[in-house]
Amino acid sequence: MTYISPSLLAADYAHLADEIKKVEDAGAAYLHLDIMDGAFVPNISFGPELVASIRKHTKLIFDVHLMINDPIRYIDRFVKAGADMITFHVESTNDPEAVIRAIASHEMRAGMAISPATPIETVFPYLPKLSQVTVMTVEPGFSGQTLMVPMLDKVRVLRRYCMENGLKLDIEVDGGITPENVGYCTGAGANVIVAGSAIFKSKKPRSVIVSMKDTAKINPFLG
Ligand code: DX5
Ligand code: ZN
Repeated sequence: MTYISPSLLAADYAHLADEIKKVEDAGAAYLHLDIMDGAFVPNISFGPELVASIRKHTKLIFDVHLMINDPIRYIDRFVKAGADMITFHVESTNDPEAVIRAIASHEMRAGMAISPATPIETVFPYLPKLSQVTVMTVEPGFSGQTLMVPMLDKVRVLRRYCMENGLKLDIEVDGGITPENVGYCTGAGANVIVAGSAIFKSKKPRSVIVSMKDTAKINPFLG
């Protein structure tokens, strides 16, 4: 099953509730919430208060992507704000195990993200404790960038590793995904698709979501 996770970073912040309703009605399953601290990445987005206010307006699964240094400091706050799953960057902490434990202590699904320069093998030791790995297909920090095609090799290697080792894992791809290239992502083994500008900057967000889901159906991971 492939899930579409629209990234709110590309939405019109003056009309958030409407923007969210639009993607929920269009068949998205998740809402991707990019949290940036201006230190781990060169951009600042929003924090737990905003997440808590939009929580009241939607039943979408909140897929929180932390791009912040020392993420363990903020796990409790994002849980309280209504996160359904929390993903942190392996590069953002000296103790990834502790962050996974902090997330799991809330009976929540833990995800680990990796930036383009990080080899995929870095996440292997943590996989049994993770429910999702986010392979960044752009440098984290901004929406509207172009997908880095070589990152799909990481997805392929990771999916194969999971299959060989009997691990059940959601593989999320994040950055620069469009209806035109989503088939390469799902074909490589990704099953959670983040899309910001392709959805929110489109005049027809519904057809973008429908077309991404259709393409995913005809391009499943083939091994
Ligand atoms: C980038 C963020 C992405 C971004 C995706 O650091 O993690 O989620 O919002 O936006 P697009 O789809 O426009 O690349
Ligand atoms: Zn993201």
